[in-house]
Amino acid sequence: MTTPAATADLSALPTLSTELSDLNEGQLTDLAHAAEIMIAQAHDVSALQNLRVQLTGKKSLLTGWSKQLGKLSNDDKKTYGGWLHQVRSRINEALTEQQEQLEIAALNAKLEAERIDITLPARGGQKGHLHPVTMITQRMQQFFVQAGFNVATGPEVESDYYNFEALNIPSHHPARAMHDTFYFDAHYLLRTHTSPVQIRTMEKSAPPIRIICPGRVYRNDSDQTHSPMFHQLEGLMVTESSTFAELKGLISEFLQAFFGKELTVRFRPSFFPFTEPSAEVDILADNGKWLEVMGCGMVHPQVLTNCGIDAEKYTGFAFGMGIERFAMLYYGIDDLRLFFQNDVRFLKQFG
Ligand code: DAH
Repeated sequence: MTTPAATADLSALPTLSTELSDLNEGQLTDLAHAAEIMIAQAHDVSALQNLRVQLTGKKSLLTGWSKQLGKLSNDDKKTYGGWLHQVRSRINEALTEQQEQLEIAALNAKLEAERIDITLPARGGQKGHLHPVTMITQRMQQFFVQAGFNVATGPEVESDYYNFEALNIPSHHPARAMHDTFYFDAHYLLRTHTSPVQIRTMEKSAPPIRIICPGRVYRNDSDQTHSPMFHQLEGLMVTESSTFAELKGLISEFLQAFFGKELTVRFRPSFFPFTEPSAEVDILADNGKWLEVMGCGMVHPQVLTNCGIDAEKYTGFAFGMGIERFAMLYYGIDDLRLFFQNDVRFLKQFG
């Protein structure tokens, strides 16, 4: 950028002789004054630098005059030397001051340009929330924990014994067909249900037992209502006096609390190898159809015995439900796979 000061040359200064001895003090004072004005008008650092060279550099008038001092008499040397010194001092001072002014102005301009407007409304952060399956699990747990149940967990890589044998499902049993899963070898597999946690708990603790076991389970299934990995919540209660009536009451209470409304609940006779008698629990939907929501029953005496619990003294009941199934009913979702596709447009709706 060309500013007037940048192009300033000494023609703007009073016309002066190049011979030092022709000058008088007034002329030199005028020169200093004119230089100060030009310096104060320099708008940027390079213009100021040009002036510095023109006014005080090797080819400047001042330097030229200084060189002539040697030719003068001692007295004149003092007089002219003093004047020149004064002019040079005033010019240097003016240059330093203007340099500082320009630096301050440059800093201010930079600060102004980089200024952050803190009064602008914030863009808003993306706030996450729990996964709907987690929220439904917590809703289920809340009821049972209030009813005195503890939360228990177990391994997802399970042995054939805990997943099947101890639950009265020997290798030839037809129930195994429904529980096809992912096998690591002849003994280890991904658990097909949360029922093995019942066994592990009964093995290591004496009644009374009240537990719920939420967790991931795996099956060789995949369609709109099944996914190879899903979640179940298992319940188990073993005391000296557990009855089917108690089971019915607990489950009915749970279902009404979970869905937050009066419900017609039906216990339909069914079969599970690990319970006797066994039942499926159905609820009456608004459209008049029965919906199956879980399996349950009185713990089979053989299962108690397998875990070292005296089946003559204790009775127990158990139940097991699919968490995604409850989530689908609760939220009105018809495709279970949506829960695991991690599409934020879907997940966001549950925040
Ligand atoms: N384990 C069963 C399944 O995955 C569900 C079940 C049914 C669990 C009845 C229970 C029960 O504890 O009593 O299909």
